Amino acid sequence: MRPVHRATLRGLGAYIPKKLLTNFDLEKMVDTTDEWIRTRTGIETRYIAEKGQSASDLGVEACRQALENAKLKASEVELIIVATITPDMLFPSTACYIQNKLGAKCGAFDMAAACSGFPYALAVGQGFVESGMYQTVLVVGTEVLSSFIDWKDRSTCVLFGDGAGAAVVTRSQDDQSGILSSYLGSDGSQAGLLQIPGGGSMNPPSEETIKGGLHFLKMQGSEVFKVAVRTMDAAVREVIKQSGMGVQDIDCLIPHQANLRILQAVAHRLEIPMEKIFINVMRYGNMSSASTIVALYDAVKMGKIKKGDDVVLVAFGGGLTWAANHIRW
Ligand code: ACO
Repeated sequence: MRPVHRATLRGLGAYIPKKLLTNFDLEKMVDTTDEWIRTRTGIETRYIAEKGQSASDLGVEACRQALENAKLKASEVELIIVATITPDMLFPSTACYIQNKLGAKCGAFDMAAACSGFPYALAVGQGFVESGMYQTVLVVGTEVLSSFIDWKDRSTCVLFGDGAGAAVVTRSQDDQSGILSSYLGSDGSQAGLLQIPGGGSMNPPSEETIKGGLHFLKMQGSEVFKVAVRTMDAAVREVIKQSGMGVQDIDCLIPHQANLRILQAVAHRLEIPMEKIFINVMRYGNMSSASTIVALYDAVKMGKIKKGDDVVLVAFGGGLTWAANHIRW
C-alpha cells in the first residue's frame, strides 16, 4: 500500500579516518600475506581510527556532510538513529553523543543489527517519516571495529576497517522517488557464528573474560560465508517483490562489503551482471554498519546512480540479521 508520506534520501555523507593500513602492513603484524587476503577477500587496504577517536567522532563528521548535502541545519533534525556495534560506551547511546556534537535538539537512539545495521536503521527511519511522526531523520552507520579486533588473530584482523556514513531521510517531494520497500530478517539460533561474547550481562567483564579475549570479535568465517550468500540473495528477491518488480529491474545493487567472493556468489545466484553491483571492499574492508551507506555515498559520488534508477541496498551480519531497502532514486 502506498504510504501517506513517502520517505526519501535527501543528503548523504561519509567519513573515513586518515590512517591507512595495507595488507603489507598486516604482513608485519600476523602470519599472513597480501596474496592470501586479496584472493580470499578482495581487500587491499582499510582505514583505522586514531587512538581516542570514537564511533560518535566518525559519525558526527558523516552527519555534518549529509546535512550540508541536504541543505539542512542540525536544528532541523527531528530524530537521530545510529546503527553501530562498536558504540562509544554501552550507554549512553552513541546517538546522544552525536546529537550533542552536532548541536541538534531531538530524539536520539542506537540500534544494533551488526553489518545489517544501516539497512535496518533506514527501514526504521522510513517508518517514522511514512507515519508522519517526523519529517527529518538522520540515519547513521558508524564503526570503530579496530577497538574490538584481536590484532593477533589473523582470521579476523585482516577483514575489518573503521568508517561512518549518514543519510538525511525526509518526505519525498514527488510521487515517484524514495524508499519503496524494506525487508528485515533475523535468526538468533545462529548468534554464535558472529559475536563479541564478553562485556555484556551474559559475560560481564572480568579477569577471565579479558584473559580469554572475549571482548574481541569472534567469527566462524566459512559458516558466515554460506549464510551470507543465501540471505542476501533471498533479501534482494523479497524486497524487490514487495515493490511489485523483479531482480532484472535493479539498476544498481549496493551490498554489504564483507568479501568480494561473497558478492560474486550473490551476483551469480541473482543472475545480476557484476557491472550492476557496486564494490568498494578493496579500499575499506568490512566496516559493518557503515559499509552499505559508505558504498551508497561512493556510488552516487562516482556517478553510478542517476535519477529514476532502482537501487537496492542489502546486508547480512551478526544476529544473524539480514535486511534490504529498495530506493527509487
Ligand atoms: N592469512 C593467511 N592464512 C589465513 C588467514 C590469513 N589472514 N586467515 C585464515 N587463514 C588460514 C586458516 O588458518 C586456514 O588454514 P588451515 O587450512 O591450515 O586450517 C586457511 O587459511 C583457510 O581458512 P578458512 O577460514 O577456511 O578460509 P576461507 O576461504 O573460508 O576464508 C574468510 C576466510 C575470508 C573469513 C571467509 O570465510 C569469509 O569471508 N567469511 C565471511 C566473513 C564475513 O562476511 N563476515 C561478515 C560479517 S561481520 C559482522 O557482521 C560484524
